[in-house]
Amino acid sequence: MDRADLQREWHALSKPWIDEVRFGRNAVRAGLLDKLMLDLCGDVAGLRVVDCGCGEGRFCRMLAARGAAHVLGLDLCEAMIAAARELQSDNEEYRVADVQELSFLADETVDLAVSYLNQCDLPNIDANNREVFRILRPGGRFIIANLHPMRSASGFWHRDSEGKKLHVILDRYFDEGERHWTMLGVNFTNFHRTLATYLDSFHAAGFRLERLVEPTVTADELERYPELDDELRVPNFIIYALSKP
Ligand SMILES: C[S@@+](CC[C@H](N)C(=O)[O-])C[C@H]1O[C@@H](n2cnc3c(N)ncnc32)[C@H](O)[C@@H]1O
Repeated sequence: MDRADLQREWHALSKPWIDEVRFGRNAVRAGLLDKLMLDLCGDVAGLRVVDCGCGEGRFCRMLAARGAAHVLGLDLCEAMIAAARELQSDNEEYRVADVQELSFLADETVDLAVSYLNQCDLPNIDANNREVFRILRPGGRFIIANLHPMRSASGFWHRDSEGKKLHVILDRYFDEGERHWTMLGVNFTNFHRTLATYLDSFHAAGFRLERLVEPTVTADELERYPELDDELRVPNFIIYALSKP
C-alpha cells in the first residue's frame, strides 16, 4: 500500500467516521481513553500543541477548550480536515499533511504533541517519532494512544456456537506489517508492530519514556458503557507518555 492508497481508504471512511464521532456513542474514547489522554497531557494552558492524525478534530477542540494557546491538527485526509475546520475556534488551525514529514514546522517550536490512534496507521513510525522530536522544544512531551500490540497482531475473538466471546486469539505477533480490517463497513489497512519495536523507535528518536499506561475500565465507566467489558479482559489500547530531554 502506498500513501495514495492509504489516503483513499481514509477518504472512503471519512463520512461514516465523522458521523460516528459527532453523533455516535464513542464508548472507547468517552469511557476509556479521553480522560487518560487529558490527564497525561496535563495543564495545557498557554501551550502550542500539534495533533498528529487529528481526524475531524475532536481532541484538538478538547485541548483548545482547556486553554491551549494554539492547536495545529494535521491529517492526511482532506475530508477530515474540512470537517475539523467547520467547528474550528480562534486558537485551532488545521492542515492536510502527512505526519511522517513535517518540514513545514520549525525545530523546537512546539510544547506538546499528541497522537490519538494514529501511529497504527503509519507505514513509518520512525519518521513520525523523529519529526515530532525535532519540532518539540526540550522538555516538550509526546502523548500517544495506540492499539495495543497484543491486539493489532491478529486480534479476533474466538466465540462459542452462540456467539459468546471465549478468548482472543493472539497469533502472528512477530510478523510485523500490514493488517487488513473492516471498520464502519469500509475496508482499511493499518500496521502491526511489536511492543519492542515501538519502544526502540521512541528511544532511537531521542525520547524518554515517562509512562506506559494499559487502559482498563473502572466500575463507574463500565456502568455507563457496558460495551467496554472487553477492556477488563484484554489490553485493546496502550498509551505512551514520552518527553524530549
Ligand atoms: C483512527 S483515526 C483517529 C482520528 C483522531 N485522532 C481521533 O481520535 O478521532 C486516524 C486518523 O489518522 C489519519 N492518518 C492516517 N495516516 C496519516 C498520515 N500519514 N498522516 C496524517 N494523518 C494520517 C487518518 O486520516 C485518520 O483521520
